[in-house]
Amino acid sequence: MTRRFAILPILIVFIFAAAHTRAQSGGPAVLTIHADQTASKVSPTLYGLMTEEINHSYEGGLYAELIRNNTFRSDWSGVNDWILVQDGNSEAKIGIDKTTGPSEALPYSMHLDVSAATAAGPAGMLNGGFWGIPAHPNTTYRGSFYAKENSTEVGPVTASLVANQSGKVLASATVSGIGTDWKQYTFTLKTGAIETGMENHLELTVAHPGSLWLQLVTLFPPTYHDRPNGTRVDLMEKMAAMQPQFLRFPGGNYLEGDHLKEWYDWKKTIGPLVDRPGHPSPWRYWSTDQFGLLEFFEWCEDLHMRPLLAVYAGYSLAQEHVAPGPDLEPYVQAALEEIEYATGSTDTKWGAERAKDGHPAPFHLTYVEIGNEDQFDRSGSYEARYEQFYKAIKAKYPELQLIATMPLKDMKPDVQDDHYYVRATDFFHDATHYDKTDRNGPKIFVGEWATREGTPTPNMGAALGDAAWMTGLERNSDIVVMASYAPLLVNISPNAMQWDTDLIGYDAMKSYGSPSYYAQVMFGSYLGDVKPESSMEDGGTRFFYSVTESTAKKQIYLKLVNGSSDARMVDIKLPGARLAATGKLISLTAHDPEETNTMDQPKAIAPVESALSGVGDSFHHRLPPYSIEVLVLDQH
Ligand code: AHR
Repeated sequence: MTRRFAILPILIVFIFAAAHTRAQSGGPAVLTIHADQTASKVSPTLYGLMTEEINHSYEGGLYAELIRNNTFRSDWSGVNDWILVQDGNSEAKIGIDKTTGPSEALPYSMHLDVSAATAAGPAGMLNGGFWGIPAHPNTTYRGSFYAKENSTEVGPVTASLVANQSGKVLASATVSGIGTDWKQYTFTLKTGAIETGMENHLELTVAHPGSLWLQLVTLFPPTYHDRPNGTRVDLMEKMAAMQPQFLRFPGGNYLEGDHLKEWYDWKKTIGPLVDRPGHPSPWRYWSTDQFGLLEFFEWCEDLHMRPLLAVYAGYSLAQEHVAPGPDLEPYVQAALEEIEYATGSTDTKWGAERAKDGHPAPFHLTYVEIGNEDQFDRSGSYEARYEQFYKAIKAKYPELQLIATMPLKDMKPDVQDDHYYVRATDFFHDATHYDKTDRNGPKIFVGEWATREGTPTPNMGAALGDAAWMTGLERNSDIVVMASYAPLLVNISPNAMQWDTDLIGYDAMKSYGSPSYYAQVMFGSYLGDVKPESSMEDGGTRFFYSVTESTAKKQIYLKLVNGSSDARMVDIKLPGARLAATGKLISLTAHDPEETNTMDQPKAIAPVESALSGVGDSFHHRLPPYSIEVLVLDQH
């Protein structure tokens, strides 16, 4: 009985597989492109980035700070990430002192209580960074801490970068003159001809008995564009290669928090780091907010992206919401002030605050998103909350485009944010999703989307799903004005990840792009500005295309995606087009959808560029199995 039933599904799979193979190995697909007939414009902002503090995206990721738990948060197990150092015959204790700290935001500190220490046997504490501290030869690291000591002179404080295995000091500096009142001290560590490695830690030690209090310890490697409090160079370069047009921040769920009191209260994330208290994030680790609101805007500036600011709209994840009306008003005001902080002249209250924080020039904002995924608010309060924000923001900033996070029944938002986390087959089936969308409805922002296959980063199968989906986004980019993959970043160290299938992976020192990342680089690099008329015959179920044109460069960009294990022949016809006989081919392929990139094999799957010959108004192209290709065709 059991056996007979078991055979049936196998047969069905077999019949389906056979049918599937026949469909894929049929005749060539025929693609006809009318390069002289524009069907629609391509949104210049189509591809961008979505970001939030998840998977140690900033702390232990993009934010270049090397010291973990640099504000000495503690729990039942002690002060996390800090270890007592007692060299030689030294004797000391470390622990949190809740009675003293350098600021209202950080009213406590780490107390180092030394009963015995000498120059040969110092005492202090060490920090191993975010799964290591990377050290490179001949490099300058800039550090700082807030400190005070008791009346006996316990300092100077020696800051040393030390190799874990050998105990070798890679660089060190001393800070003397520590006073009895809280003050910030800085130091510089310069490495010599050391070996590059990340198994290192920072030690802060003293050579005399006494008491030292420390808070907000920082250590920075060289940053992107040398920005103080800046970002990690390799990750910024990877993002730059995607040519992103916008950045959606600060979340995602990170905007909302689990509870109302844990919302992204932006005012607590600006100004001197010592005045930022930090907050718990819904992704289960503390956020110091040292990478705060202004740092997001500067990230946009560095990568020439438009900021897409999401403002908290009174809903937090544990089904807590603020009733529309007077209760919501303080949050509406906070959003208005946040927009003023970003865009106001220095004559405005919050524009002046931004100038005080080091950025007098206002940022340019086009889009503001009101909330995040409010379809999950079971109270059904979003329509009214959106309307309240909408009216107040439009009254003061009529030029802003306001994004709703779900479809609305009673009003038409400027833009609607749709999210998709699916499997490759779902995107294969749904690549036509926006083909029939009402062009009189709101514009669409696909603010989060990804094929979730592969961990920690997507594999080639996921990249194929992504690329199929992107052909649909491009084809419909008259209505789909923006789209951003999510999540963007993941620290792949043990227990650093909360959400798998993330575009770019890294540890403390190195990073790599997934196949999906390279698909994004390819699509973002050849966007074009118009979409010519085109049609496809005999494409089959796993073959996708998009064709756009750059009028400035006089180039046609043909993106082809073959999600099948069989090669695909395509007859490409461009009636009347005057094309150079040679073009360029960028190809991303794999032998198996499970194939992927890793830290050890970061470019197992990476785009390969070659010359494309035999181009004409009618030519054939062979698309390899499991492939994503861009054909760049030059027009006379
Ligand atoms: O991208 C991960 C999470 O997915 C986002 O924080 C949230 O908006 C979505 O549910």
